[in-house]
Amino acid sequence: PRKRVTGDTVEERLTANARERILPARYLLRDEDGGILETPAEMFERVADAVASAEDDPETWSDRFYETMTGLEFLPNSPTLMNAGGPLGQLAACFVLSPDDDLDDIFDTVRQAARVFQSGGGVGYSFSDLRPRGDVVAETGGVASGPVSFMRVYDQMCETVKAGGKRRGAQMGVLRVDHPDIGRFCVAKREEDSLENFNVSVAVTEDFWAALEADDSYEIYNPRTGDVHEVSEATAAFYNASRADADPRAVPENVWRDYGDDVVGVDEFRGDLVEVGEPMSLPARFVWRLVVDGAWRNGEPGVFEVDRANREHAFDVDTHPGHRIEATNPCGEQPLEDFEACNLGHVNLSLMAAEDAPLWSDFEHGGDLEARVEAFLAEALDVERLDRVTRWGTRFLDDVVTVSEYPLPEIRETVADRRKIGLGVMGFAELLVQLGVRYGSDASVEVADQVMARIDHVATATSRELAAERGRFPRWDESKYAHPTRYASWFRRHTGEDPEDWADGFPIRNHGVTSVAPTGTTSMIADTSGGCEPIYEVVYFKNVGRDVQGAEPLVEFDDYFLRVLAANDVDVDAVEAEAKRLLGEGEFEGAHSLSVPGEILDLFPTARDLPMEAHVRVQAAFQANVDGAVSKTINVAHDATRDDVADAYRLAVDLGCVGVTVYRAGSRTAQVLTTKPEE
Ligand code: CDP
Repeated sequence: PRKRVTGDTVEERLTANARERILPARYLLRDEDGGILETPAEMFERVADAVASAEDDPETWSDRFYETMTGLEFLPNSPTLMNAGGPLGQLAACFVLSPDDDLDDIFDTVRQAARVFQSGGGVGYSFSDLRPRGDVVAETGGVASGPVSFMRVYDQMCETVKAGGKRRGAQMGVLRVDHPDIGRFCVAKREEDSLENFNVSVAVTEDFWAALEADDSYEIYNPRTGDVHEVSEATAAFYNASRADADPRAVPENVWRDYGDDVVGVDEFRGDLVEVGEPMSLPARFVWRLVVDGAWRNGEPGVFEVDRANREHAFDVDTHPGHRIEATNPCGEQPLEDFEACNLGHVNLSLMAAEDAPLWSDFEHGGDLEARVEAFLAEALDVERLDRVTRWGTRFLDDVVTVSEYPLPEIRETVADRRKIGLGVMGFAELLVQLGVRYGSDASVEVADQVMARIDHVATATSRELAAERGRFPRWDESKYAHPTRYASWFRRHTGEDPEDWADGFPIRNHGVTSVAPTGTTSMIADTSGGCEPIYEVVYFKNVGRDVQGAEPLVEFDDYFLRVLAANDVDVDAVEAEAKRLLGEGEFEGAHSLSVPGEILDLFPTARDLPMEAHVRVQAAFQANVDGAVSKTINVAHDATRDDVADAYRLAVDLGCVGVTVYRAGSRTAQVLTTKPEE
């Protein structure tokens, strides 16, 4: 059956979860005493009016924005829904604020980030400019604390501020792989309760990959001097203590040796890794083991392909180093310049199947897959609707840039100059079910590629039309768009246009237009699968915070799964009762535990059923068609080995992903989505 949003009123179109729990708890405006001031319909009206106030014809556009949001075809990121037309007025989800190497700036950034959290945004930081632990501090004659120590201050701030805000503050901490403290950084989250309010990612460089390939060492730089780091005593103590034959009493806090000998096989690295006073280099394999071991233990650190992000950036950072990107927002979908912010919006793909769409099985004969999928999608997709939502969504996000308020003058200026937006998708997995395509199959990868290419090209064309109407982003002259023939392959990839047709420059309103976010809460409001993720589970408990769920965890069935069952004459009540009973007894092991026909289950592969390659290939197909990046978790089985985790990272990097997160089932105790109730 098709997914359709039905109901005459907005209230009827929303699920009970959205209407009664999620929206009241976090989105609807409240008065000073906490009383709710609006209905869901009024919330959408408030947002549509506020955003359309940037238009010359605000009435028409407000109606359109209202229509597309209440039809659940398009939703903006949470801060826009929460704050548009409200007292805070800050509408972006993504920020990057990277501290400079001085105490004032380190603590100024703490204050700035606190302001962002209060408005529901998340912050990424590069800590790569901070001098390493044990380095000199001229003014005091003392020694530096290093990035990881300062991260603990940021973590505490985030922990403290989140209680006042509407949702948990989210932070991303990034450190370059050639920073002297990279070892400390990789192990900083070993203990589960440390840096709890951070995601951490290692910014991996091409020099590093080359060294890893050649099983060689690579140079480590001190950001204070810009030269190869001269090993300090603190650095030597840390790295040399990590060797297998080191005296355990000399091992600093939080070092991998404490965890027994199953860790990284450090015994291969005998002798001193680094010597005090020498120029520093590290064996690439040693650092890689730390990354992989951390990811295997509890999903972190992730990998951020910083050189690739800069190559795909709309500015040539070799000629314009001021535009260099060092970090992403918390979930990884937006590599951003320092002081840049970005707002996101998502097209709900689950509503984009044509009324009389054929099934993929009708096209599944031999021959060229690309051509067959193209012919299939021409019939299976409601292309007109997809294009309209993409155009309206792009326009909506450009208006958000105009009307949003920002917590700092530096952010306001940076955003005004660049106007980056992030249009993406949710409901991809549910679209596939309707088309009869199995998530992770070759056909699904091709569908991902073609659908996202279409959205990207239509969004780009819309941004070009907006440039004609309202002007190009002010820094356009410095960008690659001003020189399409000089950056021909980049230009083709990001616009779908022939550079020769635009030899004098490609006018565009936004320096980036697309990315794929997790849509953690927005996909719940739209009642569909998140971002480009597979269906997580057909039935599960959701731990979304007590403000939303009360004392009881939410038991959530994928209601589309139930509808498919019903349409196939399966007794839905019996299946629900069976699932609830199994969950309650802790015996639920996934959809396969249920009495449901195998052909249906085949179309609902869940995150944990899928092989690692399926996750990676879908992510790579989306990545190839966005300007920013893709937030996705590559799930691997609980019994996956460290080598399996390493393979997942390498495949993702080889296939062109910009950010990679691998998560081994059950490796963290607190998960947002789980099939076991919380203790
Ligand atoms: O669905 P929703 O708009 O709530 O957010 P998302 O798509 O799951 O996440 C998009 C971005 O919002 C993340 O990358 C973060 O930058 C930010 N975010 C945040 O700041 N705090 C959260 N609790 C969740 C997301």
